[in-house]
Amino acid sequence: MSDSLKLALLGCGTVGGAVLRLLSEQSDDLAARIGRRVEVAGVAVRRPDRHPEVPAELLTTDAEGLVTRPDVDLVVEVIGGIEPARTLILAAIGAGKSVVSANKTLLAEDGVALHAAAAEAGVDLYYEAAVAGAIPLLRPLRESLAGDQLRRVVGIVNGTTNYILSRMAETGAGFGEALAEATEAGYAEADPTADVDGFDAAAKAAILASLAFHSPVTAGDVHREGISAVSATDVARAAEIGCTVKLLAICERVTGADGADDAVAVRVHPAMIPTTHPLAAVGGAFNAVFVEAEAAGELMFYGQGAGGQPTASAVLGDLVAVARNRLAGAAGPGTTGYAGLTVRPMADTPTRYHVSLDVADLPGVLATVAQEFAAHGVSIATVRQDGHGDAATLVIVTHRAPDSALAATVTRLREMSAVRGVTSVLRVEGL
Ligand code: HSE
Repeated sequence: MSDSLKLALLGCGTVGGAVLRLLSEQSDDLAARIGRRVEVAGVAVRRPDRHPEVPAELLTTDAEGLVTRPDVDLVVEVIGGIEPARTLILAAIGAGKSVVSANKTLLAEDGVALHAAAAEAGVDLYYEAAVAGAIPLLRPLRESLAGDQLRRVVGIVNGTTNYILSRMAETGAGFGEALAEATEAGYAEADPTADVDGFDAAAKAAILASLAFHSPVTAGDVHREGISAVSATDVARAAEIGCTVKLLAICERVTGADGADDAVAVRVHPAMIPTTHPLAAVGGAFNAVFVEAEAAGELMFYGQGAGGQPTASAVLGDLVAVARNRLAGAAGPGTTGYAGLTVRPMADTPTRYHVSLDVADLPGVLATVAQEFAAHGVSIATVRQDGHGDAATLVIVTHRAPDSALAATVTRLREMSAVRGVTSVLRVEGL
């Protein structure tokens, strides 16, 4: 084998450390698979004194100097966040290096510009680890399914919230109690905002939608609701109708009434899904993504969505791919934003709601409630009444209607004198 390929590593936290370890442990196998050895040329970190495990001669604080070094071929970015990651990746691309990144935040904000820079430089930009950790998902979307038409991509792409919702379903706990348990168990970070408020899932949804529908979608385009308002009552109501509550990232192609104005709808919110749906079985901190394609039909991708080793597996898979491309003098698939579909606002996106109401069991109450749905053009799919007298509960599941019509219906129900309380409102998916 001739000269080795030289790798610059940006960041050496949990994922970067695991990348270095696997590179060392599997160096012979990787060399055989790539056709050339990969040698670490340097590791850029902010505090070299915090990395005694890395040979001192490899450590540097000069990240830009490292990624533009003439002998460096490949750059792995596992710093995360927008800056300095963006500047460093652009510098690396500008200097002709192929880049592997695990940075969902950056790709979801600036993927188009980064892809354009990579295309212009004729180098690779791969980021399998940015969505759903170890699960091979982005390259299947970019490559294996490139001959198909995707209709929907629905995923559980945040392990922290899936752990919390799973514990709520298993124990009957409320959100606060389950979050405390997740923090104690090391699944939730000290500041859980990015996970529980859906920011992490929204960035991943934007990346998935961009690839699935060949259209630029940014995190800001994604309708986002987190799980902090999901109550023990919501989870119990879900169980009563044969459902479970999951935080879903839903990317779908939607068609206008006249069939002409195709668009994409991208949203992250908690939803009830039937316990028979493949995603309902995804428990704990696991991730899974369900894909519906015209020709392939339904596909499911499942595995570990976080953690040093699983994420490093995805990074190394990309590293092998970009190294092979480099040796072949080629670049892999770039951006495919050719379809240019617009993002439909959430208000116009068709959804289904489950609504539970406490009502008085008197003549005409059901008719009054049903009239409110009708007035907003919302068709009811099922109604169930539990109890009677003062303690009656109505459980209503609608057909699909524009989300704004469903939300307006619920607003009106809260104001009705016949309704003592709206005890649970959640969207329903997959029925
Ligand atoms: N914090 C994420 C999760 C993993 O809980 O799944 C990194 O995106």
